[in-house]
Amino acid sequence: MKILGVSGSPIKNSNTDRAVRTVLEATGAETEFIKLSKFQIEPCRACLGCVDTNECVIGDDGNLLAQKAKEADGLVVGGFTPYSMIDGRTKAFLERLYPLRHKHGFMSGKPGIAVATCATPADCEGMPPACENGVNGIMYYMMEEGMNFLGSVKIQGNLPCVRCGNGDECQMTGVKMLFGPQATVDSIGVHTLETQEDTEKTARDLGAGMRDFLADKARA
Ligand SMILES: Cc1cc2nc3c(=O)[nH]c(=O)nc-3n(C[C@H](O)[C@H](O)[C@H](O)COP(=O)(O)O)c2cc1C
Repeated sequence: MKILGVSGSPIKNSNTDRAVRTVLEATGAETEFIKLSKFQIEPCRACLGCVDTNECVIGDDGNLLAQKAKEADGLVVGGFTPYSMIDGRTKAFLERLYPLRHKHGFMSGKPGIAVATCATPADCEGMPPACENGVNGIMYYMMEEGMNFLGSVKIQGNLPCVRCGNGDECQMTGVKMLFGPQATVDSIGVHTLETQEDTEKTARDLGAGMRDFLADKARA
């Protein structure tokens, strides 16, 4: 059994990375972690050049990553949410798994888990539900490829404005937009997966769930 975990977050050892790794570790299986920012991957060109070959015509790292997904027994995909949507690298990665679809449905039946990190608090009024949107962006891929979606991990991450140096003065600061007019960089603090115990537990439980799913599948 081998599980592939992918993170679209370009930040070094980010919340997204650590959550994906937490899920992977809890599967107890052989795993591989991929940081998408270390690879070159364009979005799908919609040329249908992959229909006969199940391989993409684009000569970047997309085919290498698709091959890893094809060989994996389960898939964990994590991203962050610029402008309240799944990030571009994660989206491009999912699009580039399209060659695995034709005639064979190579991802069909495999278990999948989504991870999303966003800065918007879950109870924030008047802002889009960023984590929900991020998870949906990944979940829809898994559903449409006939995978077994096991669930999601939603992490409260950090606004770039908290570390840009102008978070308390900038007229466009997200600090006040997301946390109210009285909020400051200091009052928000830094959010980490490790201080969100329920979220970390969800990641571990989902990993264990993937392990059990694959064990049941092997017995069937
Ligand atoms: C260009 C940009 C735009 C962003 N826009 C949003 C946003 O609209 N909503 C949100 O919740 N977070 C937004 N974020 C914050 C990211 O979701 C946040 O950086 C994320 O928590 C980082 O995840 P990480 O800890 O895994 O690196 C934005 C970040 C960047 C870099």
